[in-house]
Order: sequence, then C-alpha cells, then structure tokens
Amino acid sequence: GGVTTLDAGFKNTGSCKSSVTFLDGEKGILRYRGYSIEELAEKADFLEVAFLLIFGELPTASELEKFHSDIKKNSIVDEDVKKILDAFPKSAHPMGVLSSLTSALTAFNPDSVNVESEEDLYNSIVSILGKFPVLVAWSMRKKSGLPLDYGDKNLGYVENILKMMFKVPNEEYTQNKILVDALDKLLILHADHEQNCSTSTVRIVGSSHAGLFASISAGISALWGPLHGGANQAVLEMLEAIKADGGDTKKYMGKAKDKEDPFRLMGFGHRVYKNFDPRAKIIKVAADEVLGDLGVQDPILDIAKGLEQEALSDDYFVKRKLYPNVDFYSGIIYRAMGIPTEMFTVMFALGRLPGWIAQWREMRLNKEPIGRPRQLYTGETERAFTAVENR
Ligand code: CMC
Repeated sequence: GGVTTLDAGFKNTGSCKSSVTFLDGEKGILRYRGYSIEELAEKADFLEVAFLLIFGELPTASELEKFHSDIKKNSIVDEDVKKILDAFPKSAHPMGVLSSLTSALTAFNPDSVNVESEEDLYNSIVSILGKFPVLVAWSMRKKSGLPLDYGDKNLGYVENILKMMFKVPNEEYTQNKILVDALDKLLILHADHEQNCSTSTVRIVGSSHAGLFASISAGISALWGPLHGGANQAVLEMLEAIKADGGDTKKYMGKAKDKEDPFRLMGFGHRVYKNFDPRAKIIKVAADEVLGDLGVQDPILDIAKGLEQEALSDDYFVKRKLYPNVDFYSGIIYRAMGIPTEMFTVMFALGRLPGWIAQWREMRLNKEPIGRPRQLYTGETERAFTAVENR
C-alpha cells in the first residue's frame, strides 16, 4: 500500500539507532560516545578521537600505537592514481577531485569492495584513514604545480597531514605547534555530527553493501554543497564580498532577511541546533587565539564578529533561533594557516572521515536493512500512449 506520512528533508524521522554521537540541539550539547566535545577538543588528539568514534572506547597507549602503525602501513596510494589526478584541469574544485579519487581507489584496492568479515572492515578502515590525507594533500599541491609525496612516517597523524600539504615551500609550517594544535582541534570538532546529510548518504550507500571507499566518495559529494560543508568556503567568500563592499554588514543582513532575495547568511542556522552550536563557540575562541599566536590581523574576523553581533540581536534571527554554526569561524582559522579557500570543505571532509567510518561500521555491524525511503506520488496514475508523430 501507499504511505500516508510525508517528512520532506527527514526533519522528524529517525533513520537508525546509533550510539556514536549524542546531540541536544535545544541545549547546544554535543558528545562523542558520551565525551563532551569541549573536553575532547581540549585534551585529546584527532587520532584518539577517530579511534573513539569508530570503536566506541578511548584507546590505550598500545591500541593507539597499533592503530597509527596500521594506518601508516596502509597509506601508500598506487602511483597510477597520479595519472588520474594529472588529467584534471588545475582549475578543478578539490572536492570534485577528492570524491573522484576516493572512488578510483576502489579500482586499485579491489579487496575493499566486498567487505564481509570484521577483519575486512578493519582493513578498509585503516586503509582509507591512511590514503585519504595523501589524496587531500595531492589535490591541493597539484593545483599549485608542487611535487607530491607521502610526508614523514615519524610524524603524528595531523603533523604529517600538514607536512604533506605544506612541505616545500612552507617547510616551517609543518613544525609549527600552533598550527598543528589548531588543525587538531578543528578536525576533532568536525569529526562527527550524527545523521547529517553526508553521514546519512554514507550510511544509505553502504546499506546496499557497497564498500567503504565508494560510500565515503558519495559522502564527499554530499558534503560539498553550500548548505552543508560547502558553507565554510561560502562564509569566507561572503565576508570577502562584504569587505569589498565597504564593510556594509547591515546591507547583507537586509538581504538575508528579504524573502525575495535568495541570499542567506552563510554560517548561520542549523537543522538541529536551536541554540549556540557548541562547536562554533570553541572555534570562535580558537580563531582569536590562533590569529593572535600567529600575529595575523585579519579585518575579515572583525566583519564576522560584527555580523554575529547584529544577527544575535536581530528579531528575524532571534525568532527563528538562528545562531552561528561550525562553519562561521572555521574558514578564518584555515585562512590564517595559509590554506586556500577552495580547500576549506576538503578540510571538513578530512575531519568528518572518522565519523563517516564510525557510522558506516555501525550500520554494517547492526545489520541494518537497505535504506529505501517511500514517497507520496503526485503525478498522473495512468495515461494512454500517443505515438510521436501524433503529439
Ligand atoms: N539566513 C537567513 N535565513 C535563514 C538562514 C540563514 N542562514 N537559515 C535559515 N533561515 C530561515 C529560513 O529562511 C526559514 O525562514 P522562514 O521560516 O521564514 O521560511 C527559517 O530560517 C528556517 O530555515 P530552514 O531553511 O527551514 O531550516 P533547515 O533546517 O531546512 O536548514 C540550514 C538548515 C543549515 C540548511 C540553513 O539554516 C542554512 O541554509 N544555513 C546557511 C548555510 C550553512 O551555514 N550551512 C552549514 C550548516 S552547519 C554544518 C554543516 O552542515 O556544514
């Protein structure tokens, strides 16, 4: 029979049971496996958080070491992948490149395609955690015509990411503790966010028993859109536009409130937070710290703060409970770190990777049925066919 309930955008439909991430949107609380995001951002490192999300417990020192060593062993990307990368124009957006290359990995790693045992699951997981940062660094460096390689096995996971991205010509960046800590924190804050658009995509693609790499590739595409992860790039472009327009924040507030104008205040509003996004609070403080530590003065930060002030005291935003979200201040930090604007959403993907993996693994271990939503059909139910010459 047909379905009778419609929930466009799944605003009030649970698609799964999950024990990965706890979120209370009214109170602005976010916890991974029960641990508060504030505490994790302060005390844990990204790889520990990845382990926690994926396997459910904080790792012991030896578990963490083994995890890292398995990831490193699996970080080699087939040299032929460089040929695929070469075929993209330099102007290609790195999110499209990354999604394509992640999908291409299935061709070079056929074992990852059919995942049956727990061992297969584990191998896919360490393999994607090893290879993904390499693809990220390659997609960024390729744009500037810089040489590609694998970084340094003796470095930590996040340190190595910076090394691969920046070595030659910015070697000093890779050893800079401020940058390593800032990136670590940003990646932790992005690591999971329950059933958002990209994560739901990863779960639903995986529910057909497609492999992890193929599911992650689909998740990257979902994340790219400006209403989701693409918002961090869109925020910076918006702030730039406001600056170029003489810093007229009131004008852009007016546009955002105008229902005839498609413009939205990027980095504001959230499907589930009807209060401050707890990640935005941490990132705002971090932006001040990182820019201060690096001695960077960015007028864009002042514009962002001004805009936030205005929005928080504006009836339109107050009534709709629109607060700054995770994407509002993150780009300002990435920019201070020397990361190009087009790479911002890629950085989000890098952070979200453990979350996608954890949710995909949970879906497989729970033996969830294939995802297959229903519809309310509104078209013609039956029509007689007319040959083309008679139409
Ligand atoms: N600027 C102006 N008005 C807004 C905004 C905004 N950023 N966000 C929501 N509204 C209005 C919207 O027009 C609607 O008004 P009305 O009730 O008069 O029709 C009301 O607020 C509710 O919005 P909605 O679009 O029904 O809410 P949603 O849950 O479908 O959308 C959202 C959530 C995040 C897509 C939306 O707030 C948005 O487009 N924000 C800007 C893009 C952005 O920052 N996205 C990043 C989200 S956070 C992390 C991530 O996923 O990357």
